[in-house]
Amino acid sequence: MTIYTLPKHIDFEGQVNAKNTHLFTLKNRTGMEVAFTDFGARIVSILVPDKNGNLIDVALGFKSIHDYFAADEKYHGASVGRYANRIANGRFELEGKTYTLQQNNGPNSLHGGPQGFHNKVWDRQVSMQKKVDFYYTSPDGEEGFPGTLNVHVSYELSNDNEIIIHYRATTDKTTVVNLTNHTYFNLNGEGDGDILSHMVEIPAETYLPIDEHAIPFGFESPVDETAFDFRLARKIVEALNPEDEQIQRGHGYDHTFVNKQPLTQVAATVYSEVSGIKLDVFTTEPGIQFYTGNFLSGKDTGKSGNRYLSQSAFCLETQHFPDSPNRSNFPSVVLKPGAVFESTTIYKFGLVK
Ligand code: GAL
Repeated sequence: MTIYTLPKHIDFEGQVNAKNTHLFTLKNRTGMEVAFTDFGARIVSILVPDKNGNLIDVALGFKSIHDYFAADEKYHGASVGRYANRIANGRFELEGKTYTLQQNNGPNSLHGGPQGFHNKVWDRQVSMQKKVDFYYTSPDGEEGFPGTLNVHVSYELSNDNEIIIHYRATTDKTTVVNLTNHTYFNLNGEGDGDILSHMVEIPAETYLPIDEHAIPFGFESPVDETAFDFRLARKIVEALNPEDEQIQRGHGYDHTFVNKQPLTQVAATVYSEVSGIKLDVFTTEPGIQFYTGNFLSGKDTGKSGNRYLSQSAFCLETQHFPDSPNRSNFPSVVLKPGAVFESTTIYKFGLVK
């Protein structure tokens, strides 16, 4: 059995663009512990009790800041922005002006560009071992986006084993914003095999089918009688139909489920019958990108010394829809001066009954 321990503070002391990096840890009354770094305002570890009371680290990640810099997969645990997910052809129009972004994912712009928020050292403040606040000011024009964006991401660890993530952003020029957290979860423990036998339940009635570049066509499609029907809990491997054209385009699941649940009702649940660990997701966001880690390449070795292979983790990225800046029928991602962008997501851990 793997014995999981939190990474060491000293291994997270580094520097990016003359800013120092650190590790922060939160602990609650039930013994759950979560570690963060200011590099990418990211989650490094999540230790939660399994059905036998052992602490399991369910978040993929690395044991030192240097491993994060060198990693093949750049988004482990990170706060992603200014625009999480894809913008088709790296371009959009806003108030009559065309903005061009770097195409870092085939023809698309992905996750705010190569120097997106995941690659910045954020300012930070830790309160009472319960909450950590990260702040970043993205200059006007950074990665091609208009407006100075002031972003605040806070993580709070409750005594009910919830990680409560709150996002807030303001701008001085009209811009687009889509923020998410990109934690890769494996509820059997990071590095412990694939997630294909995890059970998934998502109450979404519709999802967004994608084209060959993983861009939504622009319409919602019913999940009924498809590989995307998780309205009743199903094992990933049993739902994942390799003949399905959508599954082929995503190389597995890499699709947005349309979320109609309010913050008080579960928007997605995943659990493992092996560890007994259950993750419930609650969010104010209209979409959840369910991604089965299809592009994890095996080049990265994680905290406990195991390689991160394809489908060795899943993400539930709460967000607005991909390519919304080019889709007037999607919920708007436009933020104007004077307005405040706010959004909340809760990752709640528990045990299967
Ligand atoms: C996900 C995206 C995947 C992949 C991953 C980063 O959000 O949907 O296709 O790009 O990020 O490796």
